[in-house]
Amino acid sequence: MIKNVSVIGLGKLGGTMAGCLASRGFNVVGVDVSQKAVDALNAGRAPAQETGLDELIGKNKQRIRSTLSHEDAILNSDLSFVSVPTPSDERGAFSIQYAAYAFEAIGKALAKRDSYHTVVLTSTVLPGSTRYGLLPILEKFSGKTCGKDFGLCYNPEFIALGTVIRDYLNPDFYLVGEFDERSGAALESVNSQVALNKAPSKRMSIENAELAKIALNSYVTLKISYANMLADLCERIPGGDVDVVSDAIGMDKRIGRRYLTGGFGYGGPCFPRDSVALNFIGKHLGASTQLLEVNDSYNRTISPRFVEKLKPYLRKGSTVAVLGLAYKPLSHVIEESAGIYLCLALAGSGLRVLGYDPLAADEAHRALQFHALVSDSIATCLQDAECVLVTTPDDAYKALKPEDFIGNKQSVTVVDFWRCLPESIRQHPKILYVPIGRCIDDATAVKKLEGLWSGDEM
Ligand SMILES: NC(=O)c1ccc[n+]([C@@H]2O[C@H](COP(=O)([O-])OP(=O)(O)OC[C@H]3O[C@@H](n4cnc5c(N)ncnc54)[C@H](O)[C@@H]3O)[C@@H](O)[C@H]2O)c1
Repeated sequence: MIKNVSVIGLGKLGGTMAGCLASRGFNVVGVDVSQKAVDALNAGRAPAQETGLDELIGKNKQRIRSTLSHEDAILNSDLSFVSVPTPSDERGAFSIQYAAYAFEAIGKALAKRDSYHTVVLTSTVLPGSTRYGLLPILEKFSGKTCGKDFGLCYNPEFIALGTVIRDYLNPDFYLVGEFDERSGAALESVNSQVALNKAPSKRMSIENAELAKIALNSYVTLKISYANMLADLCERIPGGDVDVVSDAIGMDKRIGRRYLTGGFGYGGPCFPRDSVALNFIGKHLGASTQLLEVNDSYNRTISPRFVEKLKPYLRKGSTVAVLGLAYKPLSHVIEESAGIYLCLALAGSGLRVLGYDPLAADEAHRALQFHALVSDSIATCLQDAECVLVTTPDDAYKALKPEDFIGNKQSVTVVDFWRCLPESIRQHPKILYVPIGRCIDDATAVKKLEGLWSGDEM
């Protein structure tokens, strides 16, 4: 049974995998090209920012060591996970440049090994990358043959930043793309010791697994956009309420309730780019993937569309506060964040924009400079705002009191994208409360709907 593993690339995913694997009894060698990451892990600290990772690594440091040497790692472990960046290129495809560099170093190390070793890629790649882009590098630099001297798998993870430890240790299933039966069996023996929840494995060809990974993420983005479309519709139906509709259709087993809460666009380091990449490969192969193109454009234009929608509440030159700049609560990541895009769109239409986020202030400040100010406290952010947009369902915002919004003002408009604010704010006479996804003007909605049946529009 494999007990010695290595993790190559100690970032948000790989760094967390190293800690989790050690916590499940594996001896782990971590490798990175960054001295800082290597030093951190050797000192028993997290090499990348992730909730709970410092503690996890600290507790298990007797089973983890780290090095700059791929050779050291390959010679002293039986299976290696490779989790290096695969950034999107200008075509929307994933570059395998970093992975190629790592595979060259692994290949050179395999040349010096006299026993079987399994290489497992966990980075997100497009179909064909592992077999046609990376395997030839391993064989060239090792002088060895895959399937005989070493094994190869593709094993992506489905984790969300902020809950990577929980997600990694409790996956719904393992997606295993295997070069051959032996490679898959080696990986399965490790995965079965890692999971806290006896997660099943789906074993398949490497290409099917490469496709399944981005297909799954892209499907979730479609679901999110569908919920956002429903929210928009509900605002126009008398008494319309997207939560009522989503709760109902989410009861259907074919649909399910998760990711069906209409509110705001999806963002972050995975969802948007996975969907774009799937469209890229589809087009390249001649498949009809326009659905993904439409979804991407629907999501990318959600912030400017909200600025249009909110125009009745916004006076040119007035001050707007945006609470929530990261792509989700409890995150410092602003990559592809709808909140950031909203700030830029609001500033572009002549409004004074102030933003606030409990964790993402530094990143947001860099992204918004010259367009919007980032406040270091909620109080400063809300002080002069005539209109406040709550774009993430963060506990810090749910705990706000009416006075926090009103201050010395006569009135304030509060737009609640996730319908998460308490009753005291919804009902306050000095607050015009605007929940996204609910109809707030039944009279107009009735008129419009009635017109359809009254003969005028029939
Ligand atoms: N972060 C996520 O939420 C997430 C989720 C699923 C999949 N992924 C995928 O996992 C991969 C890694 O993502 P991440 O967020 O951990 O990236 P990251 O940028 O946080 O970390 C990557 C690490 O790899 C190191 N590295 C680069 N080249 C190397 C080499 N040749 N040898 C050793 N180390 C090297 C870097 O120094 C860095 O520490 C990507 O393909 C990403 O798409 C990430």
